[in-house]
Amino acid sequence: MRDKQGRNINYLRVSVTDRCNLRCIYCMPEAGVESLEHDDILRFEDILKIVKASASLGIKKVRYTGGEPLVMKDIDKLIYETSKLKGIEDIAITTNGILLADMAEDLKKAGLKRVNISLDTLDKDKFKMITRIGNLDKVLESIHKCLKLGIKPIKINTVLMKGINDTEFEDFLNLAREMPVEVRFIELMPIGESIKLYEDSKVNFEEIIREHSELIPIENRRGTTAQLYKIQGSKGKIGFISPISCKFCADCNKIRLTSIGTIKPCLHSKEEVNLREYLSSEELLMTKLKSAIINKPLEHHLEEERTSRTEKMMYQIGG
Ligand code: 5AD
Ligand code: SF4
Repeated sequence: MRDKQGRNINYLRVSVTDRCNLRCIYCMPEAGVESLEHDDILRFEDILKIVKASASLGIKKVRYTGGEPLVMKDIDKLIYETSKLKGIEDIAITTNGILLADMAEDLKKAGLKRVNISLDTLDKDKFKMITRIGNLDKVLESIHKCLKLGIKPIKINTVLMKGINDTEFEDFLNLAREMPVEVRFIELMPIGESIKLYEDSKVNFEEIIREHSELIPIENRRGTTAQLYKIQGSKGKIGFISPISCKFCADCNKIRLTSIGTIKPCLHSKEEVNLREYLSSEELLMTKLKSAIINKPLEHHLEEERTSRTEKMMYQIGG
């Protein structure tokens, strides 16, 4: 379905839980956050109802995210039920990779097509510093497991931050040299917890690309948010995602469903449509979804305003 700017909205991102087994410094406060009551978050059947209604409006791709989607009970079942819905062609997850090695086989069997794994450092101690809890080996094990299972593509999301992990840029290039994965460097966005870090940790992707002549540009697929590069002889690819310095709102094909059941037609806008009261009627759900899609905001204002307009945190919306 097209929004009023003519953008073809065919991608739904679903935050299945606001809980996470990590506490990344740019996402959550150190003490953690108060988890929502069980009754406040959408149930399995409710998520499925909304995905189904979205599919009949032209959503073809679904990404399950969180928080951390793999802490949701029955996520494999949700993926399986999603794969049976008419119109759904692609199911992906964004995960921090901690639980993935043990679950990947079941998830693939259930119908999972692709994974994005968040990984901001290849250094064990720094991984503890950035995630406050996590064990790097678990994530590396998950990447290897997905490769072995032939899950393709595997994308690695790396939020590059000055003074925190920018010195590891070359190490990540080496990862893409050695493994058939797409390492995607992401600009930190000033939203929620990361507003405090934003000014001091800004990196300049254009400058980095200029300084690395080994990066060979690859023609972009339509609708991809990353500018893609290869290195001579590399097994993998390198991408740069610059939501702020190189805004892609004009091509945005996404809407989001939060774990409490609101549709966010734009990540950085305050606008939300609560679907909870319409769960009993597929027709009403579709009407509400349609109006959320049609009225999707034109663009974000991060560059001028230096902070997201949304008051939601990243772990409530999902990356
Ligand atoms: N800016 C950019 N990316 C972010 N993520 C979480 N918070 C931010 C932010 N402020 C990313 C994570 C992960 C995905 C869930 O979203 O690194 O890859
Ligand atoms: Fe968890 Fe992802 Fe937030 Fe890190 S960025 S705390 S892994 S939800």
